[in-house]
Formats: sequence, C-alpha cells, structure tokens
Amino acid sequence: MKKYLVISICFLFAFTVYGQETVFKYVGVANCATCHKTEKQGEQEKIWKESMHAKAYETLKSDAAKEIAEKLGLEKVPNEADECLPCHVAGHGLDASMFDKKFKMEDGVQCESCHGPGSEYKSIKVMKSREESIKNGLTPILVADGTAEEYCITCHNEQSPTYKEFKFAEEWEKIKHPKP
Ligand code: HEC
Ligand code: HEC
Ligand code: HEC
Ligand code: HEC
Repeated sequence: MKKYLVISICFLFAFTVYGQETVFKYVGVANCATCHKTEKQGEQEKIWKESMHAKAYETLKSDAAKEIAEKLGLEKVPNEADECLPCHVAGHGLDASMFDKKFKMEDGVQCESCHGPGSEYKSIKVMKSREESIKNGLTPILVADGTAEEYCITCHNEQSPTYKEFKFAEEWEKIKHPKP
C-alpha cells in the first residue's frame, strides 16, 4: 500500500513539473525594437518596417483582398478570416494568454513570425548566446543551411491566392537585416 502511495506521489510530482513547462509567448515587435533598432545592432526594426511584411495585415483590408475573399465566397472579411490570417499575422489562432499586452496583430508578419515567440529569449543574458536563445524559443533558421528558405515557403507557396514564384535569393535580398 505504502509503495503505491510513493509511486502515485512520484507521478503527481512529475506531472506537476511537466505541467509547469515554460510557455513561450509573443511579445510584439516594439519589444524587440528596444534593442534591435540601433545602427550598431543593424536597424532591424527600420528594415522590417519598410518591408511589405509590416503591412501584411493592412493589405487584408484592401479592395484587392476583399475581391479575392468574394471570389472565394468567404463568410468573413479577409482581415478576420481564418483563410487569410495565418500567413498575414503572427500567432493566428492561438489563445489570448499566449500574447503579451503589447503584442499587436496589426503589425502583420513581424519579427516573431520568423524568429519564434520571444518572451523567454528576449533578455540580454539569453540573447547573447544563440544556443540559450534556441532553448528558450528562438527558431533556428539560417540562410547558409537552407532552413531560412524552407521557412519562407511555409507562407510563400501556392496556398496564397496571389502566389508569385518565390526566388529565395532575390527575395531575401529585399528583407535581409544583418548585424553590421
Ligand atoms: C535586451 C535587448 C534585446 C531584446 C529586447 C531583443 N534582443 Fe535579440 N539580440 C540582442 C543581442 C545583444 C543579440 C546578440 C547580437 C550579437 O551577436 O552581438 C541578439 C541577437 C538576436 C538574434 C540573432 C540570434 C543568433 O545568434 O543567431 C535574433 C534573431 C534576435 N536577436 C531576434 C530578436 C527578437 C525577434 C526579439 C523580440 C522578440 C529580440 N531579439 C529582442 C538583444 C536583444
Ligand atoms: C508568416 C508568413 C510569411 C513568412 C514566414 C514569410 N513571408 Fe514574406 N510575405 C508574407 C506576406 C503575407 C507578404 C505580402 C505582404 C503584403 O503585400 O502586404 C509577404 C511579402 C514578402 C516580400 C515582398 C514582396 C514584394 O513583391 O513586395 C518579400 C521580399 C518577402 N515576403 C520575403 C520573404 C522571405 C525572404 C522570407 C523568409 C526569410 C519570408 N518572406 C517569409 C508572408 C510571409
Ligand atoms: C499560404 C499563405 C497565405 C494565405 C493563406 C493568404 N495569403 Fe495573401 N499573401 C501571401 C504571400 C506570401 C503574399 C505575397 C505575394 C505572393 O506571393 O502571393 C500575399 C499577398 C497578398 C496580397 C497582396 C497582393 C500582391 O500581389 O502582392 C493580397 C491582397 C492578399 N495576399 C490577400 C489575401 C487574402 C484575401 C487571403 C485569404 C483569402 C490571403 N491573402 C491568404 C500569403 C498568403
Ligand atoms: C521574414 C522572416 C523574418 C522577419 C520578419 C524577421 N527576420 Fe530576422 N532573420 C531572418 C532570417 C532568415 C535570419 C538569418 C539570416 C542569416 O542566416 O544570415 C535573420 C537574422 C536576424 C538577426 C541576426 C543578424 C546577424 O547578422 O547576426 C537578427 C538580430 C534579427 N534577425 C532580428 C530581427 C528583428 C528584430 C526582426 C523584427 C524587427 C526580424 N529579425 C524580422 C528572418 C526574419
């Protein structure tokens, strides 16, 4: 009997620890920008803001978007439709508890769309180590090993109603944002 009790307690403990596993939440581009806007870091915020990714949500409110939605017979307007939002904003469909107060869906395809939800890796201590950042939610994508291209085509593909052929090298040139 006592043995059973010990085993159950062990299970309960393991379950509790497992249940408390850290969740990675979306904090929004304003948060990343506090560090990634300086010239020294490479002005990633500015480069992103000037790209179409920053406007991807606004685009869903355009006449062009409404026309597409009508042709497809969608019930909702494009900027509220599950058929459109997954590629045009970050974290679509996740529970509200997965977003920081400062997160704005209106920011469209933002840093965390590609780099992963940043609540746990955004501290300077973690960020300074790529390995620690990855353990804490940073998506490991690089141009050199092809993983970046694979990631782009999760959105840049034929499921996009306006799909244009995606030539990675050319497209990356338009949005690259290296640390100088
Ligand atoms: C407190 C400052 C700070 C904040 C906030 C911050 N970062 Fe960073 N980040 C850094 C520093 C410092 C580095 C390391 C740069 C270097 O190599 O010197 C870095 C590195 C990175 C890298 C490169 C990782 C690698 O090693 O390959 C990415 C990607 C990145 N940050 C994205 C983000 C995103 C996305 C956010 C918002 C969710 C964010 N950062 C928030 C300071 C910050
Ligand atoms: C989460 C989905 C998503 C991912 C991932 C993504 N994109 Fe995009 N991208 C979009 C959307 C949506 C647009 C259209 C925005 C608009 O026009 O409002 C776009 C537009 C662009 C444009 C502008 C095209 C033009 O003709 O002006 C470039 C360049 C681009 N993406 C490059 C990339 C690259 C390179 C990657 C991978 C490193 C990538 N994208 C990953 C969704 C995504
Ligand atoms: C699979 C991802 C994906 C889905 C789903 C998606 N889009 Fe897009 N959208 C993109 C990408 C990527 C672009 C950039 C141009 C391209 O290659 O299609 C884009 C661009 C656009 C543009 C700009 C047109 C242009 O020529 O650049 C409009 C308008 C648009 N999308 C509307 C919609 C509407 C409306 C829906 C829902 C019915 C939708 N999108 C669903 C990925 C997607
Ligand atoms: C469309 C996808 C996409 C978006 C949006 C995006 N990034 Fe990146 N980012 C990448 C990829 C891919 C790399 C890896 C580049 C490489 O391998 O050279 C990268 C690299 C970086 C690096 C490392 C640069 C270096 O040279 O070490 C930093 C820092 C960074 N991103 C920050 C940001 C921040 C901050 C934002 C938002 C303001 C952002 N990124 C938005 C795809 C994206």
